[in-house]
Amino acid sequence: MYCFRKIKEDLFWIGVNDHRLDRFENIHPLPNGVSYNAYLLLDEKTVLFDAVDWAAGPQFIENLTAALGGRTLDYIVIHHAEPDHAATVGEILLRYPEAIVISSQKGLDFLRQFAFIGEGKTESVKEGDVRAFGKHSFTFFQAPMVHWPEVIVSFEAESGILFSADAFGTFGALDGRVFQDEVNFEKDFMDEARRYYSNIVGKYGVQVQNLLKKTEGLGITSICPLHGPVWRDSIGYYLEKYQKWSTYEPEEKGVLIIYGSMYGNTESAACHLASLLSESGMHNLAVYDVSDIHISYLISEIYKYSHIVLASVTYNLGIYPPMLNLLEDMKALNVQNRTVALIENGTWAIKSGTLMNEILSGMKNMRVLEKKMTVTSSMDEQSVTDLKEIASQILDSLAESEK
Ligand code: FEO
Repeated sequence: MYCFRKIKEDLFWIGVNDHRLDRFENIHPLPNGVSYNAYLLLDEKTVLFDAVDWAAGPQFIENLTAALGGRTLDYIVIHHAEPDHAATVGEILLRYPEAIVISSQKGLDFLRQFAFIGEGKTESVKEGDVRAFGKHSFTFFQAPMVHWPEVIVSFEAESGILFSADAFGTFGALDGRVFQDEVNFEKDFMDEARRYYSNIVGKYGVQVQNLLKKTEGLGITSICPLHGPVWRDSIGYYLEKYQKWSTYEPEEKGVLIIYGSMYGNTESAACHLASLLSESGMHNLAVYDVSDIHISYLISEIYKYSHIVLASVTYNLGIYPPMLNLLEDMKALNVQNRTVALIENGTWAIKSGTLMNEILSGMKNMRVLEKKMTVTSSMDEQSVTDLKEIASQILDSLAESEK
């Protein structure tokens, strides 16, 4: 059965919620599902803005057919050609073969590469191009690498709507709600929005900044992203998050402790440090076992906290593999501007601290605190003294950053 919602006069959300997909991009867990947002404009011309993943095709076609109410489809605008938004375009074209597909030139190329479109009618748009579909006109802007190179966004000046492609999206199904004021975004979506941003778009902070600057003076009143709720108020709240995330500025003063432990001794050091910090009044703390949680959650937490402690056992004369994987992902995703303390452990040839430091030194503005702690197999009285020094260094650095 069809299911769609009115967004504004002439504009409808006709997307689909997916609770069946286990992992986004076959990597990132989706415990709360995800929405693929598509929108339909019913003006003098009918315009579909983006499509959905192949798996959501049947529901999407029902939604589109019902929302069109017997009219034909004149245009399909594809802001982003990734298959979660474009895989069903071919299916739509089978039903509406006269529809003209509008995208960037690269977007049209990608749609052909994926075999989502064939020889049908297409139009390419570039920066500043305007298309009028009746009362409503749309200006297109290029947004390369947010999060693929072909991406465009579009702005409808009369109602102040930005169709933002992947930008301002989030993991999490909408489940009947469509607008951010219909959900408790801070409680139910914020962590997933950060996890989505940091893992999907995080590498491209400069490009996100470019997009934010480009759209700054447009007078945006609503944002229609490709995943998650539509924003029709409190836009400043989300823009502020994007400003921080895209400049790699921590959201909060706090300490994130991530440990990689084989027999519990590195874990013991990590937990003891957390206790010392809490005892000293730093309660904004989080502790994670790197082996026990999907890396996408750790990346998200790294985007949140100002101070990070990495504690790793030495493994095959190297860094514990899950910790190495995390460090490599941090580097790949361009993590910057954090203060880091290191704890290493080993029974012989202890190397993990030095090696972690080497990787961190290849990242931008990562300040590694001078005192590194070494545990030799298990904690002893000296370890407690050393941990107190580590805690004190972290607290001093936090106090310094308050000034
Ligand atoms: Fe939601 Fe980059 O696709």
